[in-house]
Amino acid sequence: VLSHFGHLKEHLFKFLVIGDYGVGKTALVRRYTEGKFSSNYKITIGADFAIKTLDWDPHTKINLQLWDIAGHERFGYMTRVYYKYAVAAALVFDISRAATFQSMKKWLCDLREKITLPNGSDIPIILLANKCDISVAVTDEQISKFCKENKINAWYATSAKNNTNVDTAMRYLVEKVLNAK
Ligand code: GTP
Ligand code: MG
Repeated sequence: VLSHFGHLKEHLFKFLVIGDYGVGKTALVRRYTEGKFSSNYKITIGADFAIKTLDWDPHTKINLQLWDIAGHERFGYMTRVYYKYAVAAALVFDISRAATFQSMKKWLCDLREKITLPNGSDIPIILLANKCDISVAVTDEQISKFCKENKINAWYATSAKNNTNVDTAMRYLVEKVLNAK
């Protein structure tokens, strides 16, 4: 049977999902991996992870390991441990709460300080403006400017609730990682 799949390549990628508490990191991961959404807020302690398997193309299977880091961890000492071996990251803020956008810089610095790929380059990072189904407190211009100034590859307005742009955003990151190989 194996010979039948002689050209099958299997990858394991560790992705990080980070940002302030309550922005919807767990909701995005759950939407992406289980196709579900709950409006209850259950705070994440430390970190959680979930796996999603993608049949990328007939020759490539990808096991995505999504690390959902507690928003409160920025003030802890654990991020270095959680970030280890990550190959990409999604920075998440809540588009209805400007303060969570202001925090992006700190999360980004934490990431860039602690992670570099074995070849010395930075990991690909995207910015997710989550909860786009509710009121908007940060403009597209502000977000684009921030991405440009901080060399963030791309940004998406997402909704874990309505399933907006969740797959698209993750697909973009996977492509970035595959192309860098
Ligand atoms: P920590 O675990 O504390 O870091 O927070 P978190 O970023 O994991 O937030 P979580 O996913 O638990 O979501 C917080 C609250 O926002 C929950 O009540 C979610 O239901 C809600 N929420 C998450 N995503 C969305 C969204 O896209 N739209 C709306 N309307 N609510 C959302
Ligand atoms: Mg959480």
